[in-house]
Amino acid sequence: MSQPPDSYGVVGHPVAHSLSPFIHAMFARATAQQLTYRAWDVAPPELLQRVAEFFAGGGRGLNITLPHKIAAVDLAQQLTERAAHAAAVNTLAAQDGVILGDNTDGAGLVRDLCHNQGLTLAGSRILILGAGGATRGILAPLLELQPQGIVIANRTAERAQSLAAAFADLGTVGGTGFGQFDAQPFDLIINATSASLSGEMPPLPAAALTPDTVCYDLAYGKGDTPFVVWARQRGCRRALSGLGMLVEQAAESFELWRGVRPATAEVLAALRARQG
Ligand code: ATR
Repeated sequence: MSQPPDSYGVVGHPVAHSLSPFIHAMFARATAQQLTYRAWDVAPPELLQRVAEFFAGGGRGLNITLPHKIAAVDLAQQLTERAAHAAAVNTLAAQDGVILGDNTDGAGLVRDLCHNQGLTLAGSRILILGAGGATRGILAPLLELQPQGIVIANRTAERAQSLAAAFADLGTVGGTGFGQFDAQPFDLIINATSASLSGEMPPLPAAALTPDTVCYDLAYGKGDTPFVVWARQRGCRRALSGLGMLVEQAAESFELWRGVRPATAEVLAALRARQG
């Protein structure tokens, strides 16, 4: 008798609009892996129990999305180094009787920037807008690329400063409030605030941006995000949403679970067509 397929999924709240089931179904088809991947809407008070039940029932792996990424640190019995640095988990895997917590977001971003977009970030000047969980998740992998420096700018300057201090051993990184930093142009500006979700844009000095600055929004949605629109209106030639990062972080999770690296170009093209 054949075995039932291994079970995977994504846990979030809300989760109905998650693109992960679409992405992982394409990966599984392309790599001939027998698995199921579902979306589960789980409210915070139920997270612990639902995840425990999933793994007790033989589930193999979960993606964890908003608002559970920080809480998921406590669901893991072991953490990868990058998850410990990020202090957040976006992937759980049943491995050798242990639930391993990993964070593939930063690696996904770096893969999209360096591989898909062909950027070289060594020696570059990087500005990150926002100092929340999303920024914490990408700092270590970005600093590993040895940029000249990273400036974190945040509405609440103290949050940016303490985050910068926590990563100072990994490279040159400073924290400041919006409009308080020296307005030399940056090579890369990453939007990691949740501001654009409500259509707002942080106030940035015009001199921070030249037509050659790459602007990258960790967020994505149907059509262009407000940050992408904002950057294009200021003459930016390359303004990108986070769809590429989404697909690449998914590929990292898939590889952790299945030991096979799925190709991403076709999936990304399909998503771009779907998202408009
Ligand atoms: P996440 O895990 O998505 O990073 P978070 O930890 O709540 O979520 O952080 C949200 C980030 O977006 C913070 O940097 C927040 O700024 P504050 O630290 O000052 O709160 C930023 N943010 C949210 N709404 C914003 C707005 N309207 N304008 C500017 N920044 C905003």
